[in-house]
Amino acid sequence: MATTVTRRRYDVVVVGLGYVGLPLAQAAVHSGLVVAGLDTSAATVADLAAGRSHIDDLSDDDVAKMVVSGFDPTTDATCLADTSTVVVCVPTPLSPDGGPDLAAVRASVTTLAEHLVPGTLVVLESTTYPGTTDEVVRPILETSGLRAGVDFHLAFSPERIDPGNAVYGIRNTPKVVGGHTPACTEAASSFYALFVDTVVPTRGTREAETAKLLENTYRHINIALVNEMARFCHDLDIDLWEVIEAARTKPFGFQAFYPGPGVGGHCIPIDPNYLSHNVRTRLGYPFRFVELAQEINAAMPAYVVRRVQDALNEDGRALRGAKVLLLGVTYKAYIADQRESPAVPDLRAAVADADIVVLLQHHRAYDVDDLADWARRFLDTRGVVTPSSHAERL
Ligand SMILES: NC(=O)c1ccc[n+]([C@@H]2O[C@H](COP(=O)([O-])OP(=O)(O)OC[C@H]3O[C@@H](n4cnc5c(N)ncnc54)[C@H](O)[C@@H]3O)[C@@H](O)[C@H]2O)c1
Repeated sequence: MATTVTRRRYDVVVVGLGYVGLPLAQAAVHSGLVVAGLDTSAATVADLAAGRSHIDDLSDDDVAKMVVSGFDPTTDATCLADTSTVVVCVPTPLSPDGGPDLAAVRASVTTLAEHLVPGTLVVLESTTYPGTTDEVVRPILETSGLRAGVDFHLAFSPERIDPGNAVYGIRNTPKVVGGHTPACTEAASSFYALFVDTVVPTRGTREAETAKLLENTYRHINIALVNEMARFCHDLDIDLWEVIEAARTKPFGFQAFYPGPGVGGHCIPIDPNYLSHNVRTRLGYPFRFVELAQEINAAMPAYVVRRVQDALNEDGRALRGAKVLLLGVTYKAYIADQRESPAVPDLRAAVADADIVVLLQHHRAYDVDDLADWARRFLDTRGVVTPSSHAERL
């Protein structure tokens, strides 16, 4: 590995300052590293430089403190030539054909290749299909004339950020790291060990990429399992929520998952598709579990609508023209700002005015049993309400 003798201006440049990149930059700043943040969005960079946060997990004050501690948000890619480490956290949405859209990854590493200097550690954190680091990122970086594992270090380390989680943050969530060579794994592990308690090395980049997809596919499939059970338990007049509470008392071999009106967010509905798309296009056969789970989870919104229709029918009302109040429209409980929530009397009035109220997501601001008392009909897709003659759970 070629090393440089000159000291670099930055210890790390984080590329992509979103839900993943910004908390990472914050952790690096807190550990005393000199950090720049590179983003193509001039508006995001200007906001951050002015101490304004655009993500739930960091407050304006957090960002202002980062800036005071030397965090340098920028749109100027020349910082890439003056840093020891580059961590890429750009988005990887679904493309129209169901695979990952790697446009932002390609664009950011193409820019990086133009500035890459020997001795740099490059880590990809964006979630993607197995093989991306080696087959997409490495060839682009090597257009610089430098070789991975020889002139620069290359690794993949999946992000495990859980927005809104007050217990597990970057420091106490173990970090999986897989390098292009054992020396790359070691370089990346040493970097993360500066601000993460436990680093878990894997054999290579593919194992690290696939570990992330296994984690999210596991959740996706188990959610689909209880979603499918929700349907027949309802038909059999079995309270699935009680079933899960009973089953979860087993201290080993069982983890509780809960049904819901569908799956949201970035990871669960999207990541398993990367894996099934990759298996199908490379190997020509399906990843059946993922495809079935996808089918079941995707059908949940329509199932909830059917349950709403059934509940209205009980009151002799048609769905057409009915006033349906949906409570909780973020994909996760408790995240997003509560400051604009309606005051309790306003909420009660809105609930009393609706033909049916559907709880899609629970929030601290809701006293669900109280709201159900005010409602004509209440359908709870989260298992929070105490069932009664007019309040039912999915
Ligand atoms: N949000 C999560 O909870 C979560 C959890 C685990 C993994 N991930 C993964 O992490 C990656 C990033 O997700 P996110 O939620 O932080 O995305 P995000 O949309 O919040 O942020 C991405 C940022 O990257 C910037 N960007 C886009 N193209 C760029 C480019 N070419 N160069 C520089 N900056 C660019 C955007 O302007 C934006 O600020 C994705 O692959 C995602 O799957 C996200």
